[in-house]
Amino acid sequence: MDTFSMLLRNSVVGIEEKVPLVSGERRTAINFDNAATTPPFHSVMREIRNFAPWYSSVHRGAGYKSVLSSNLYEKARDTVSEFVKADAQRDVVIFTKGTTEAINLLAYKISQQDRSRVVLVTEMEHLANVLPWRFACQSDFVSVDASGRLSLEDLETKLVKYKGKVRLVAVTGASNVTGYMNPVYRIARLAHQYGAEILVDGAQWVPHCPVDMRPHQSKEHIDYLVFSAHKMYAPFGAGVLIGHKDLFQQGPPFCKGGGTVNLVTHELVDWDDSPQRDEAGSPNVMGVAALIAAIETLQCMNMNTLYEHEKQLTDYAIKGLKSVPGIKLYGEAGLAEKRVSLVSFTAEGIHHSNVAKILSYEGAIAVRSGLFCAHPYVQKLLCLSKEELQYCHEHPDEPLPGLVRISFGIYNNCREVDAFLEIIAWMMRHRRKLDEKYRCIENDADYPRWLLKPVKKRAP
Ligand SMILES: Cc1ncc(COP(=O)(O)O)c(C=O)c1O
Repeated sequence: MDTFSMLLRNSVVGIEEKVPLVSGERRTAINFDNAATTPPFHSVMREIRNFAPWYSSVHRGAGYKSVLSSNLYEKARDTVSEFVKADAQRDVVIFTKGTTEAINLLAYKISQQDRSRVVLVTEMEHLANVLPWRFACQSDFVSVDASGRLSLEDLETKLVKYKGKVRLVAVTGASNVTGYMNPVYRIARLAHQYGAEILVDGAQWVPHCPVDMRPHQSKEHIDYLVFSAHKMYAPFGAGVLIGHKDLFQQGPPFCKGGGTVNLVTHELVDWDDSPQRDEAGSPNVMGVAALIAAIETLQCMNMNTLYEHEKQLTDYAIKGLKSVPGIKLYGEAGLAEKRVSLVSFTAEGIHHSNVAKILSYEGAIAVRSGLFCAHPYVQKLLCLSKEELQYCHEHPDEPLPGLVRISFGIYNNCREVDAFLEIIAWMMRHRRKLDEKYRCIENDADYPRWLLKPVKKRAP
């Protein structure tokens, strides 16, 4: 391993932890489920420990620690804003508990403004960027092609069809299923040309490459951006919504309560300005401190370099998987495709949930399997018919169709990919026997009990 890879590997917590295999052996865990959540950076944990003695209520007290906590929390908005090149004057940075809450908040604000306008979401969205719109506004889908790539032609057709009625195009920066990165600046250009705005779901985008919201006067400006800290090495529950201040200065907030007002009487409510208006209750200062430490660490490592590093790993895994008979890749439009560091596949003759179990129980490798909260997209990639979906709906006890996903963080390496490919090749050679064996273990609750015995704690 080269020095840079070693540095990246040593930047996160828990890489040497051993987990039990079905054989009774314990083996160093390999985490290929970083698209779900990443382990924390050491720098994040250090920041939490260093800040803990000074931690106090935000915006509520005149005590020294409270002032210090409030300063840290408020200054964090500038760091986040600079990280994604937002406009500090015209945009507001609202802290949420994640991408899902951020989109729900935005959907509420937009629906309050005008329910008659349309929000175009794409067929490749995570449900976090589908369901809030379905319930808040009139929404319609922009289609994807058979390999899962977004159709810009269909986007333009829909923008034309709605004759200026489209309020927002809600699109993911990168798919959590295929890893495709969308041409968000071209989409922004198109949306603006037809009088709409653009929201980019950055949950799978912001952690992997440099992001630039571009100036407000640019046709390629990203109007709204959301992302989650726990997918970028900073657990503790913070998320971000950035967007035009004007929208958030109007009307009541999504969540109402303490901290959102200047004055309340029995007769009136005088709302505070955003972001305070949009952050009801006690702010998550620890979560925000963690996010800022993660951003600073990522910046030191350089987002361009990290993108290239993860790309090498992804290309290596794709090449290896393609060489195993019976493995089918999804959204595999060639190695040149702009994508983030994840790959989805199926294994002929083995249910996706069994592949995940085999990797974990036999190889200590954590992956994700299923529909990845992107049900319509995975259904389309798997070419499931309406009848097949109806069957799934009517037979909830039967296993659902789905995919297996591996997703890399900056600390993963080719040695781990080799270990993964070895097990995959072995699994395919013994697929019938293994599928039968693992079919008896129906879900995670059946994880052999003795394997779940707590691991001995190390001395601090
Ligand atoms: C593309 C995408 N959007 C939104 C979300 C939801 O993020 P969170 O669970 O942090 O709110 C995810 C989570 O996996 C995601 O992958």
